Amino acid sequence: MLPDSPLDAAYWQQRYVTGQTAWDAGQITPPLQEYFAQLGPPDTRRILIPGAGRAYEAEYLHGAGWPNVFVADVAPEPLRDLQQRVPDFPADHLLLADFFQLEPAPPFDLIVEQTFFCALDPSLRPAYARQCARLLRPGGTLMGLLFDTEFSQPGPPFGGSREEYRPYFEPYFDFVHFDTATNSLKPRQGRELFISLKKKQHTL
Ligand SMILES: C[S@@+](CC[C@H](N)C(=O)[O-])C[C@H]1O[C@@H](n2cnc3c(N)ncnc32)[C@H](O)[C@@H]1O
Repeated sequence: MLPDSPLDAAYWQQRYVTGQTAWDAGQITPPLQEYFAQLGPPDTRRILIPGAGRAYEAEYLHGAGWPNVFVADVAPEPLRDLQQRVPDFPADHLLLADFFQLEPAPPFDLIVEQTFFCALDPSLRPAYARQCARLLRPGGTLMGLLFDTEFSQPGPPFGGSREEYRPYFEPYFDFVHFDTATNSLKPRQGRELFISLKKKQHTL
């Protein structure tokens, strides 16, 4: 988080408390669900969902038997919501924390992006790419969705384009997939990229 940013924990908590959460799909989105379905049977991979909000992805993965799913958010309200919906979700996997302060101890195998990148001040984008790489083991994957569109209203969400994003990730990741998602939620169709980026062996 930027020092003295208006987009701080209090801002996000207030958005949840007052129900201003238009980003919240209310369910896992199809591109993530399809990706998770092809991961195979659950194993001990450590999965991080940063800026997770109500974390429907965590609920899905937990329900499918993945034991090492972690969610991080600066706002307590959505974490409380997840805990209520999924009482047996491990409490110590709910990280009330700034993504940029997380430590790779131990590193993660998979990071899941869903409307977190677009919520950050755009000046933080290079730091986001670097922190994802820092938190992953070599060969680990950052996957998810990035908007490939501009918004008419001031952000968040902040829009952008694949051309803008590419250089943020290139120093740390090999690009496995970086193209328009084919199975987005209807209002997001044609406006988001599905990304699957593999952390390079020799970086950070
Ligand atoms: C637009 S919402 C998306 C939430 C969720 N991923 C979803 O799709 O419903 C952005 C989320 O990022 C969280 N957030 C913002 N800055 C953060 C930071 N620096 N570290 C962790 N979480 C942050 C907010 O509290 C909010 O829950």
